Amino acid sequence: MKLQGKTVVLTGGSDGIGYHIALKLAEQGAQLAILGRNKERLSKVESECATSGSPKVKAYSCDICDAVLLEQTAKLIVSEFANIDILINNAGIWHKTGPLDQIPDDLLVETVQTNLTSLIQLTKHLLPTLRAQDEAIVLNIASKSGVVAQAGQSVYTATKYGVRGFTEVLKEDEKETGIRIAGVYQSGTNTQMFAKAGENVPNHIFTEPEDLADVVVFMLSRPPKIWLHDVRVEL
Ligand SMILES: NC(=O)c1ccc[n+]([C@@H]2O[C@H](COP(=O)([O-])OP(=O)(O)OC[C@H]3O[C@@H](n4cnc5c(N)ncnc54)[C@H](OP(=O)(O)O)[C@@H]3O)[C@@H](O)[C@H]2O)c1
Repeated sequence: MKLQGKTVVLTGGSDGIGYHIALKLAEQGAQLAILGRNKERLSKVESECATSGSPKVKAYSCDICDAVLLEQTAKLIVSEFANIDILINNAGIWHKTGPLDQIPDDLLVETVQTNLTSLIQLTKHLLPTLRAQDEAIVLNIASKSGVVAQAGQSVYTATKYGVRGFTEVLKEDEKETGIRIAGVYQSGTNTQMFAKAGENVPNHIFTEPEDLADVVVFMLSRPPKIWLHDVRVEL
């Protein structure tokens, strides 16, 4: 898809991988609706995207675990941008590794809501407008943990396997529409995701988020007859 002037809804664009995806898409001239919670970081990415070439960029402070607010925000975005061409479901959180009975109940619920439930809900809210386009894309930034079982990540992995299952069924369900769907299944990336969960991981050895953002832009910008269904990015 030619990205110039296209409208992209991006979750988790205030930090990490999403922040770099936002900047790279802005350089391509895409319009951006960016969701996150941290207002300071949202405002920073909004102004940087405008400077980098996005013709229209708006940040929406929205806790995606709040289903009512998420639906309201989706409606607001549709009313402010009219046509949505691309949805990138990227927001996610990590829980410290360990056996299941050491994962606090509230964190268990928050992880499922953030990584899986809200992703399904936002996709549902935006499907009608995506279907109305000649070509549209839903890209789910999952994880290697959506493909490989790794010890100590029971809840995180359950959410990411869930995202992969959802992605695969959505592909089947939307195959007669103009929506193309893919998942990205990447291994460790050098962001603050682990530190935010109190986990001490030497992530400087991981993939750089700006390099992963290049992969995302490459996937989105293929010509109509080429579609990369699923991409695994590993160290
Ligand atoms: N980093 C890795 O090693 C790695 C590896 C594989 C897959 N992934 C996946 O890649 C995605 C991005 O991860 P990352 O490393 O970029 O993480 P990150 O740096 O911690 O960024 C996470 C983003 O998600 C947003 N977010 C989290 N909870 C939210 C909520 N309840 N409501 C709204 N926004 C919320 C954050 O916004 P605020 O800060 O503004 O709340 C932030 O913009 C996630 O789905 C993650 O599971 C990461």
